[in-house]
Amino acid sequence: MAILAANWKMYKTIAEASAWCEAVQRSPWLDRAEVLVFPPLTALSALRRDGLRLGLGAQDVGWAEQGAFTGMVSAAQLRDAGCAYALVAHSERRRYACEDDRMAARKIAALWQAGLTPVYCVGEDASERDAGRGPRRLAQQVDTVLGELRGEMAGRLIIAYEPVWAIGSGSPATPAQACEAAGMIRERIAADCGAAALARIALLYGGSTSPASAAGFMAEPLIDGLLVGSASLDPASFLAMLEVMVHA
Ligand code: PGA
Repeated sequence: MAILAANWKMYKTIAEASAWCEAVQRSPWLDRAEVLVFPPLTALSALRRDGLRLGLGAQDVGWAEQGAFTGMVSAAQLRDAGCAYALVAHSERRRYACEDDRMAARKIAALWQAGLTPVYCVGEDASERDAGRGPRRLAQQVDTVLGELRGEMAGRLIIAYEPVWAIGSGSPATPAQACEAAGMIRERIAADCGAAALARIALLYGGSTSPASAAGFMAEPLIDGLLVGSASLDPASFLAMLEVMVHA
């Protein structure tokens, strides 16, 4: 089943989050895709109380189990709040909170331990792309994490290829570029963990996706779904993407 994920970033009050879910849950297509929402932490409990029928996720997770870690929220606490997923190492976390690949590995391990599915975000920035170092950067992001995890795929792993130059720019990568990156990521996983690990992987594209560009990505055989930022905030545009997806 295709995956459609809404990353709201630092947008929406609790009331706005509830109104969005009410609108989206009127869709007749919800059971035809794995539909996920990543609201701000403040809205998690309210959405669960409202009877959310979408997969609920957090935008980040602490790597430790518990303890004196002011400001962190653990994987078990996220599960307690109703989450089944969490984003790991989104490029905005890498940029503003200095997260790196090794920290991502610890977060993925913590999520698996608590029974949650990590959505690990990878992607090269504009200078890496321009210097022809995009593929090397991607391989490094995948290899470092899988190396830290000792090649053990202890749970399901969703990987989102989100080129930093495409996020929030209004110009997505082309479906062919996304497919090429997805192919490379799969090759690294097979090399690091064995081909059987590919059965536990799903690959998303993210970065300026919209209802207009969704069909092109979903036509690519190596792309299993989309991680959507700004076009997910309005329920109408998110639902338009869901409709494209279930008819792809
Ligand atoms: P965007 O964000 O769709 O607004 O480019 C995607 C993301 O950052 O996950």
